[in-house]
Amino acid sequence: MIDYKKKIAEIIAEDEALNMTPEEILEWIEIPGDTKMGDYAFPCFRLAKTLRKAPPLIAQDVAARIEGAGIFEKVQPVNAYVNMFLDKKEYAQTLTEDVLTQGKDYGRSEVGQHRPVIVEYSSPNIAKPFHIGHIRSTVIGNAIYKLYDEIGYDVIRINHLGDYGTQFGKMIVAYRKWGSEEELEKDPIKALLGYYTRFHREAENDPSLDDEAREAFVKLENGEEEEVRLWKRFRELSLQEFNRVYDMLGITFDSYAGESFYSDKMPAVIEELKEKKLLVESRGAQIVDLEPYGMTPAIITKSDGSSLYATRDIAAAIYRKEHYNFDKCIYVVASQQNLHFKQWKKVLELMGKEWQKDCIHIPFGLVSLEGGATLSTRKGNVVFLEDVLNEAVQKTAEIMKEKNPQGIDVDEVAKEVGIGAVIFQELSNNRIKDYVFNWDKVLNFDGETGPYVQYTHARACSVLRNATEEEMARIRKGDFDAKYITSDSAYNLIKLIYRVPEIILDAADKYEPSILTRHLVDVAQSFNKFYHDEHILVDNEDEKVAKLALVESARIVIANCLNLLGIKAPERM
Ligand code: ARG
Repeated sequence: MIDYKKKIAEIIAEDEALNMTPEEILEWIEIPGDTKMGDYAFPCFRLAKTLRKAPPLIAQDVAARIEGAGIFEKVQPVNAYVNMFLDKKEYAQTLTEDVLTQGKDYGRSEVGQHRPVIVEYSSPNIAKPFHIGHIRSTVIGNAIYKLYDEIGYDVIRINHLGDYGTQFGKMIVAYRKWGSEEELEKDPIKALLGYYTRFHREAENDPSLDDEAREAFVKLENGEEEEVRLWKRFRELSLQEFNRVYDMLGITFDSYAGESFYSDKMPAVIEELKEKKLLVESRGAQIVDLEPYGMTPAIITKSDGSSLYATRDIAAAIYRKEHYNFDKCIYVVASQQNLHFKQWKKVLELMGKEWQKDCIHIPFGLVSLEGGATLSTRKGNVVFLEDVLNEAVQKTAEIMKEKNPQGIDVDEVAKEVGIGAVIFQELSNNRIKDYVFNWDKVLNFDGETGPYVQYTHARACSVLRNATEEEMARIRKGDFDAKYITSDSAYNLIKLIYRVPEIILDAADKYEPSILTRHLVDVAQSFNKFYHDEHILVDNEDEKVAKLALVESARIVIANCLNLLGIKAPERM
C-alpha cells in the first residue's frame, strides 16, 4: 500500500524554492474530517512567506504538481487548500487485499531492524501487595513491549523487582518478633504486610526497632546466612503471588533481575564514582552533589555503608548497557519518581556514560479508586490487584448471564472480557493523566471500552459465520470487486484500517498506547456504523463477498490491535 502522506510530501518538497524536507512538509498534511474535502488536504498559506506568493496561487501550482504524479483521481485547489481525492474503488481493493493477505502481520514493520530495546515494567516490591497502583506500570509496559516488538525491535522485558533495601531489615526484624512460618504459608503477602505495618506502628514508640532493622539489612548485604535465608523465603513467596496476577493478565518477562541482582555490582560503581571524583561526604553518607543542576543530592551510600535505590539503579543501567547493548532502555515508572530518574540520569551523565540519553523514563499518572480508598502500604488498607481482576471477571459474568447467551462458555469468556476491560481502561487515557477507577465506566458494553471493542470483534465473527467455504476462499484469493465497498460508511472504515500501521508507529514513538486504543475505538465505531447502514448478507453474490471481505479485514485489524494492547479477542460473547 502506498504511503500517501509521504508521497504527497515528497512531491511538494521537490520544489527547491521551498527549501524544506519531505518530513517537515509531512507534518502539515491534513486528513479532512469531511470526505467532501478529499482524503488528504494541504494548506498552502504556510508556504506564503517563503514563496512570497498568494496562497491560492501556490495551491494551484501544488495541485498541478500532485496531479501530474497520477496517484489521485482528483486534485482540487480550493482557496489556500489543495484537496486530494483517491480512487475509492482502487484504494478499497488494494487495502482489503493487503489486510487479507497479511492477516496477523498487518501493521507489522521492520523499522527496528531487530535492534535490542529493553522495556522495564511492573517492578513491584517484594513482600508488599501487588496493588492497583502497580497495574499501570504492568499494563502500559506490556503494551509498549508489544508495540516495539510489532515495529521490529528485539525487546527484552525486565521486571526490576523491588527485592532489596532497608525495608527487608524491617521485615526480618518484624518476622522474628511477631511472625511464624505457618502464617507465612497460609497467606504470604497478607502476613508480610501485617509484619510491615506492625513494625511501623511499634517503631513510632520504640525507635530502637529502626536501629535493629538497619542492622539486619547490613547483615543481609554482607551475606549473613540467616538474614539471607529469610529474605529468600520472602522473595520466593511473593513471586508466587505476583505470578498469579501475571498469569491472569497473560504477561511474562524475560528477566526478573531486580534490585538484589545488582548487590554485588555496586562496589564497582562506587569505586568508579570515587575515581571520577564525583563522591562527596555529607554527614557520613556518600553523595553526588547535584546542586549545580538545581537538584537535591543523589545519595549513594548511607552512613552505615548500605546502598540505596538510586545506587542500584545506576548499577542496573551500566550492567544492562554492557550486557544487552541496548538501543533504548525504557523505564515505565510512576511520575512520582520523576526526580529520582532525573538525578540518576545526571549521575550517569557526569560519569561520562554518553548512552544515558538512550535511557528513557516513561512516567504515568496516579490511579485512585472511587470512594477514595488509599493505596498506601504503610497504612495497610490497600486494594489488591488480584481482587480487582477477580471482581471484574465476576461482574462481567453477571452482565453476560443477563443476556442469556447461547453456546458460550460464560465463565471462560468473562475472564477474557473482564480482564480485558480493566486493561483497556488503563490504556484509554493519556498515560500521564491521573484517573479514577470506576466500575460502570470499565464494564460498559456500549461506551468507549474494552467490552465494546471485543463485542464488535465478536459481531464481525458472527457475520462471517454466515459465509460459505467458497465465499471465504474467494475472499482469501482477492476474488471480489471493491466497487461494492465504496459507500461512505464502508469507505470511512477502510480509511481507518489504512491508518493502523501508521498509528502503531506513532504510539510506539510516543510511548503512548492510548493512541492505539483510541484509534481502535474509532475502527469499532466505524465498523458498527457500516454494519447498521448496510445489508451485508445480500442476494447479489458478488456484492456479498466484497462486503464480507471488508468485514473480515475489520475483524483482523481489531484482533491485531487488541492483541497489541494485551487483550484477548473472543469470537463469541
Ligand atoms: N519497585 C519500585 C516501586 O514499586 C519501582 C521500580 C522502578 N524501576 C526502577 N528501575 N527504579 O516503586
